[in-house]
Amino acid sequence: MGGATPDAPDAPDAPDVIVVGGGVIGLVTAWRAAQRGMSTAVVDPRPGGGAAEVAAGMLAAATELHPGEEPLLDLALASAARYPAFAEELAQAGGADIGYRPCGTLVAALDADDRALLRELHALQRRCGLAAEWLGGRECRRLEPMLAPGVRGGLLVDGDHQVDPRRLLAALLTACERAGVVFHRERAATVAVSRGRATGVGLADGRELPAGQVVLAAGCRSGEVGGLPPGLLPPVRPVKGQVLRLRMDPAAPTLSRTVRAVVRGGQVYLVPRADGELVIGATSEEAGWDTAVTAGGVYQLLRDAHELVPGLTELPLTECRAGLRPGTPDNAPLLGPGGLPGLLLATGHYRNGVLLAPVTGEVMAEALATGELPALARPFGAERFSGARAEALT
Ligand code: GLY
Repeated sequence: MGGATPDAPDAPDAPDVIVVGGGVIGLVTAWRAAQRGMSTAVVDPRPGGGAAEVAAGMLAAATELHPGEEPLLDLALASAARYPAFAEELAQAGGADIGYRPCGTLVAALDADDRALLRELHALQRRCGLAAEWLGGRECRRLEPMLAPGVRGGLLVDGDHQVDPRRLLAALLTACERAGVVFHRERAATVAVSRGRATGVGLADGRELPAGQVVLAAGCRSGEVGGLPPGLLPPVRPVKGQVLRLRMDPAAPTLSRTVRAVVRGGQVYLVPRADGELVIGATSEEAGWDTAVTAGGVYQLLRDAHELVPGLTELPLTECRAGLRPGTPDNAPLLGPGGLPGLLLATGHYRNGVLLAPVTGEVMAEALATGELPALARPFGAERFSGARAEALT
């Protein structure tokens, strides 16, 4: 078909779109672009990886609401609302269930300070028109009997669900392949720029893959790609999260819904899957590119999770991993035109890559096809950092 590709390179075999990055955001963008009739390729040495491979998969629009991040809420809610249909469509297109589980979330408080923080979250949720019910400690334990007797109260958020990010990635890979997306399992070193326009991608071995439009969707590595003027590099940084996986008896699961808490000011969450996996996360560390699992990280997660659900120490510990979230200065993603003709951004989703996948695929396909971002994504254009970007260019 050819999307909005004015002045596209003259290479006859060049795809309409090339996506740099085969994580959840790159794959969903490629899939939706291919569905719109654009010939599409993805460049990634290991597509189906990235931060989502480690993530717990909470769809936490209301429970991860932070003061000052209200502009993100509309986008997050729009994406959460798309999840049931998205999961169904992907189960068909990707040939596998993605583990979407509409189970709700309970946020518990263990002491008076944690309870005060939860009261603040509840007030913010109410100001934003979100449904959340305040429960006493006994009501929390009635819903989740394995909670510690010390739980003092909590917030029941029926609208915050979960999905299995590894199943999601696998289904997106298959859906992309079935839609004709071509995979280059190589590292993109540069965005090729010619006469003031992005014209393709340069590989580490020096070869160039021409394309009509280039989408930079390389997560926290999006700011590292060569070829672009420094002022156009997206301001993303790695934010490390260590995550543990335990195994429950699926016939007698330890928890029936996502449970999270603030423990001595730190966040911990436990995400129980229908197949018996229990994911505990996550640390939040400004540690550069380090992905080591540390004794301190594992200790902190197990200590806090154990305080909340003492019985979990009986469960087998099956995995400890660390991932790198793509953080941005305002914790919101960068979507749409990237400041150079032919260049688009889909990056910087920080804590919300899995949650924002459905809406990101949709708005990026629209931007690729028409050159315009839909209204709900416009607050997240790259130009909001244009002051800093222009400064960097001078
Ligand atoms: N959204 C969960 C996390 O980033 O840890």
